[in-house]
Amino acid sequence: MACVNVSAVDPQRTSKKRIAVIPGDGIGQEVIPQALKVIRASGADVEMSEFDWGADRYLRDGMTVPPDGFTMLGRDFDAIFAGAFGDPRVKTNIHAKEILLGMRFKMDLYANVRPVRLLDAALCPLKGVEPKDVDFVVIRENTEGAYTDAGGVFKQGTPDEIAIQEDINTHKGVERVIRYAFEYCEEHRKLDGSPRGRVLMCDKSNAMTHAGGLWQRVFRDVSGEHPQIAAQTMYVDALCMQLVRDPRPFDVIVTNNMFGDIITDLAAGLQGGLGLAASGNIHPGKTSMFEPVHGSAPPIAGKNVANPIGAILTAAMMLEHLGLTQEGGKIEGAVLEAVKQKQTTQDIGGTLGTREAGEWVAEKI
Ligand code: NAD
Ligand code: IPM
Ligand code: MN
Repeated sequence: MACVNVSAVDPQRTSKKRIAVIPGDGIGQEVIPQALKVIRASGADVEMSEFDWGADRYLRDGMTVPPDGFTMLGRDFDAIFAGAFGDPRVKTNIHAKEILLGMRFKMDLYANVRPVRLLDAALCPLKGVEPKDVDFVVIRENTEGAYTDAGGVFKQGTPDEIAIQEDINTHKGVERVIRYAFEYCEEHRKLDGSPRGRVLMCDKSNAMTHAGGLWQRVFRDVSGEHPQIAAQTMYVDALCMQLVRDPRPFDVIVTNNMFGDIITDLAAGLQGGLGLAASGNIHPGKTSMFEPVHGSAPPIAGKNVANPIGAILTAAMMLEHLGLTQEGGKIEGAVLEAVKQKQTTQDIGGTLGTREAGEWVAEKI
């Protein structure tokens, strides 16, 4: 098994939460150790086992995920904490596809939950926007859509080449993620303690009528079961414009896999950049996976400049998911303090390195 630092895992023990850690590539290897330091400082009762899945391992012996890898993760762990996958040496990106998309698809982690919160007004590129104005969440469908890689290429390399990339939308897949969005809206509050009350479904049903029609119908049906929640739909192009013009009206956004990918990078920009954005890949009741939204950022990798906050806030999200709400809250409080006092990396106005920024948050806790 491709596992280093493994501590004995006792499936009978339920109190101590077991976390599989997969730092992956590039800055994943720098930000994840900082987040682990912060988890330890929070006093969370967890047992962490690290796995070396990623580009180095793939280039060394060809392994991406061991044959029983996903079964093992689901069986032996309460959560997975991942860094980033992508390396310029692996042109096909096959390892990222098999590890990252493999976890999302094969472990059926259908709701990709990406909270978007502005921690300090100075971080937002929009003028006059306060932290209370940016506090929404994007729920991205995570197991189908344009990401199934269904399709193919015909007559490759000839002038008659045909490339087909299919967008798969199942009633089950659409319904469960929309239902998740409404339940999320009911169960989660905003940072200031006020209740959430709106779900917006984002599609492109004016042009992509078959898939869009299904999303529209299911959204109408599920929203009918939640009359106390305001339901609205918006085309993805209009939504992007509206998000940068005025992010205040947004609360819970639910959308397909590809639109969710694009919208969440745009939304990370509203927060102050990819270095701050957290996410969880969730299937209620199953082992879920948590990872910062950013990638492996090859140009800045190995330089101790990457912002560890996205990974640290992802760790807090994971602990809260595991029921360790106090520990998660402590971490979020310390991050907020770091941002306020500019004890951060350069991308958000500080002067610290990755390690020093992680250390500051850990010590604050
Ligand atoms: P990226 O997220 O790696 O970087 C985009 C930009 O944001 C770059 O300018 C980068 O320097 C900056 N950035 C990202 N994270 C940062 C951080 N923590 N601190 C400071 N700046 C940060 O996206 P990309 O450049 O499009 O992709 C690079 C590689 O990562 C590719 O192989 C891609 O496929 C992969 N990727 C992986 C994931 C994932 O594993 N979840 C997500 C996105 C991209
Ligand atoms: C993300 C990433 C991935 C995605 C890539 C690396 C396949 O961009 O997690 O947002 O598109 O989902
Ligand atoms: Mn992305």
